[in-house]
Amino acid sequence: GKGNHRHFMLKEIYEQPAVIGDTLQTYLDPATRAVTLPALPFDWAKVSRVTITACGTACFAGMVAKYWFEKLARLSVEVEVASELRYREPPLPEGGVCIAVSQSGETIDTLAALRYAKAQKQIIVSVVNVPESAIARESHVVLPTLAGPEIGVASTKAFTTQLTVLLTAAIAAGRARGTLTAADEARLAHALIELPAHVNETVNMEDQYRHIAEDILSEARDVLYIGRGSSFPVALEGALKLKEVSYIHAEGYAGGEMKHGPIALIDELVPVVVVAPTDSVFDKIASNFEQVKARGGKLILMTDAKGAARLGDQAIATIVLPAVDPVIAPILYTVPAQLLAYHTAVAKGTDVDQPRNLAKSVTVE
Ligand code: M6R
Repeated sequence: GKGNHRHFMLKEIYEQPAVIGDTLQTYLDPATRAVTLPALPFDWAKVSRVTITACGTACFAGMVAKYWFEKLARLSVEVEVASELRYREPPLPEGGVCIAVSQSGETIDTLAALRYAKAQKQIIVSVVNVPESAIARESHVVLPTLAGPEIGVASTKAFTTQLTVLLTAAIAAGRARGTLTAADEARLAHALIELPAHVNETVNMEDQYRHIAEDILSEARDVLYIGRGSSFPVALEGALKLKEVSYIHAEGYAGGEMKHGPIALIDELVPVVVVAPTDSVFDKIASNFEQVKARGGKLILMTDAKGAARLGDQAIATIVLPAVDPVIAPILYTVPAQLLAYHTAVAKGTDVDQPRNLAKSVTVE
């Protein structure tokens, strides 16, 4: 049941500290602070390329993972939506690994892309929430997300646990490839161990999200989300969540793309949600923020205390999140995006758990 929550989506958002913690129990040894993946039938050091394929939110998890595998393991990674990969039939290199990401494990396009990759002799690793699913059964290795059943059509806890698993896999790959020092691994493991507490703190800032949703987002016709680096896929996910549950038109963009078109949309009616943890591209996203400000856009800033000190007085609303290692930020910054979408949907009176036209799992094309 929904417990004391009004909707499954809200219950599942609130479950995130616990299910991220459960997932970490499986992939991280708290005593040694070392990542512990199940035995893999391949050596990361010999992997020529990683192809990640998935649909919807699961594909955004794959996009975040691309930044992680590239940075931590110096691996070359392609991410492609499964419906394109399966019909495009690209050549996949010998010694490649294909990672299929799926909550249900039954998404038809993801399954077909997996079968194509398998026929191309890729090793198939799946990150799934349902271990008995078709995608799990057809994989060489299964890395389960321990999110528990996800009932709300809008994916929430499945996404953050997918990110958790993919980050531990990227850390393991970095270790095996000698691209990640023991000190860096220990730092990231420590950051992951602290993550459930930070997520807990973030979900509990409930009133803030409700106010922004009621006073700003639910009144808008269009909303933009922008981010850079690994915050770019978080912007895409934030926009997808808002459109799915509130039916408000929303788009996510890489901050650097604003001047190449989307900034033409900005006027005083368009809220822009800026995903801006203090990281190596903060100054760049700050300049996108200022460009939007100069055109009268309504800025909703998600950042930490340092970022808020720098830009907060120019935003109409600032969500101040706990300061975390920038590598972990995409997991944490997803949570306020989920809650903004949720409260906007509630304010608009839509069917949050069962939005029109959507199915929980897309098993027919
Ligand atoms: O079960 P899957 O993870 O394979 O599903 C993939 C997408 O259908 C799913 O993430 C969809 O985009 C959700 N409605 C997102 O909230």
